[in-house]
Amino acid sequence: MTKRIRKAVLPVAGLGTRFLPATKAVPKEMLTIVDRPVVQHVVDEARAAGIEHFIFVTGRNKAVIEDHFDMAYELDDTLAKRNKIKELEALKADLPAAGATSFTRQQAPLGLGHAVWCAREIVGEEPFALLLPDMLHYSAGKGCLAEMIAAYDRHGGNHIAVAPVPDDQTHQYGIVGVEDASAKVSKITGMVEKPPKGTAPSNLHISGRYILQPTIFNLLANQEKGAGGEIQLTDSMIALSRQEPFYAVRFDGEIYDAGSKIGFLAANVAYALDRDDLGPQLRAEIAKLLAR
Ligand code: G1P
Repeated sequence: MTKRIRKAVLPVAGLGTRFLPATKAVPKEMLTIVDRPVVQHVVDEARAAGIEHFIFVTGRNKAVIEDHFDMAYELDDTLAKRNKIKELEALKADLPAAGATSFTRQQAPLGLGHAVWCAREIVGEEPFALLLPDMLHYSAGKGCLAEMIAAYDRHGGNHIAVAPVPDDQTHQYGIVGVEDASAKVSKITGMVEKPPKGTAPSNLHISGRYILQPTIFNLLANQEKGAGGEIQLTDSMIALSRQEPFYAVRFDGEIYDAGSKIGFLAANVAYALDRDDLGPQLRAEIAKLLAR
């Protein structure tokens, strides 16, 4: 019997330098994909997978993320008085249950591994999900994390979502080798963080969704700096994979790196095209633009 995955960690401490000046006063996670902040899309995915508690690892200047996931009393009151019931209901539906969010700060930008380690006290002794908010996983089904939890319920252990990237991009990601690249769920045979060009064991990248056993925290506590001089989660996962089963779950939907300008723009177009209230009109606008 596997322990249920109840908690999700969302590291949101990054400075967002790639989006300056937009991110001078607004956290990059609050930039919008259509009309929802990036981080809200990721929380939506986690909720769809049954996550009950959301742990945000924040940093300085990120307080607005906390406000976003709280009730906005004056706003609710004004909407109610103006009889904007649909808007009010939508806000209510998005609001996490009371007590279902936790916020802790990463005091210095020491790397993803360090950010995850900062959540150790709040996660405690249970397996947890980790979602990198920059990476949007779009699927027609229940979502990437839901697929992973289904795999975890069958196999237990640790899981990461993987998807192929072009060979000339493997140096930008964590890359995994797997026993059977064609299988939906496969045992991992190797992992490497940002392999130098031409050295990647495959073209399957770690796409930013994880299910990890709490053993990872002990490994992170002693993790030496790795690629880019940062404490890398991947390096501790390599150690963990020597102790415990580790699986790759292949994600077949679309992935947008909303931390890059092109990925962010593409995500906005893709998510808007799929909306009934925006899709048809946007399609016509895009056709006009392309004919310019
Ligand atoms: C992190 C992880 C990397 C993963 C990537 C996905 O890297 O370390 O393994 O492939 O996220 O976006 P970062 O983007 O923080 O450099």
